[in-house]
Amino acid sequence: MVRHFLRDDDITPAEQARILDLAVAMKSDRYGYRSLEGPQTVAVIFDKTSTRTRVSFSVGITDLGGNPLIIQPGDSQLGDKESVADTARVLERMVSAIVWRTYKQSALDEMADRTTIPVINSLTDDFHPCQLLADLLTIREHRGELAGQTVAFIGDGASNMSHSYLLACATAGMHVRLATPAVYPPAAAVVARAKEIAAQTGGSVTIGSDPNAAATGADVVVTDTWISMGKEDEKAERIRNFSGYRVSPELMAVASTDALFLHCLPAYRGYEVDAEVIDGPQSVIWDEAENRLHAQKALMHFLLTEGK
Ligand code: CP
Ligand code: NVA
Repeated sequence: MVRHFLRDDDITPAEQARILDLAVAMKSDRYGYRSLEGPQTVAVIFDKTSTRTRVSFSVGITDLGGNPLIIQPGDSQLGDKESVADTARVLERMVSAIVWRTYKQSALDEMADRTTIPVINSLTDDFHPCQLLADLLTIREHRGELAGQTVAFIGDGASNMSHSYLLACATAGMHVRLATPAVYPPAAAVVARAKEIAAQTGGSVTIGSDPNAAATGADVVVTDTWISMGKEDEKAERIRNFSGYRVSPELMAVASTDALFLHCLPAYRGYEVDAEVIDGPQSVIWDEAENRLHAQKALMHFLLTEGK
């Protein structure tokens, strides 16, 4: 059966651990896995801009022996001129998988419903699950274990990164704490699902609005832009609403003394994070960015071989 990766809870805790194990193995044997030998082509479609996702999928598909077909915004008929359903039918005749960065999760779900090849979410308004595989890999590399670690996400609770943190960390048996202004709450259904998963994995989910309470004693502190792609019109209002949510040296000081700092990037120094933190010794953002490559190679290998 075809397997898709549309949101973080599309994989079980055991599958998540397996993909992370594979990523570690692939990182130390970069050209040793040839699951796209042929070369098979993977379509990587962007409706929003990207640096890391574009480069990591392009390089990763090539590393696996395949051919990346990058489709930039405005490059195809998909959207106004051709439906998701018709695009899916055409692509599956020629490519082995579809990676799509778009706005609506419902469009991605429709693509997956309409095709017989794996569809991978490379960011929607609601989730960024490939980023979370890279983030978990990074935390595992620096901490050894994921289960039992406490992660504090400070920022936009209604964003793709917040939702993915809730689901992916619960899947890994971690304790995830979210601090967000009350006007940007996470989707209730995502919180409920994360709590359900956490109840099975030994993790926990705490939603609040106090950054200090979330960060106190945390092993990992994470943030993301206050203005996600598509929210640019709300910039002034968001900067006002998030002003108390900057990850500062003072906030890092209440976390565990050896706490890690993560950020999916791109970052806006002086807004969601101070330069002293993101460019300081606790920051692991460059490992995190590199790990997009290894985690996504592992994901593609898993979906195309073992996960079938
Ligand atoms: N973190 C991330 O997805 O970066 P890009 O937007 O550059 O792909
Ligand atoms: N939340 C951000 C993530 C960018 C990688 C956005 O959607 O723009």
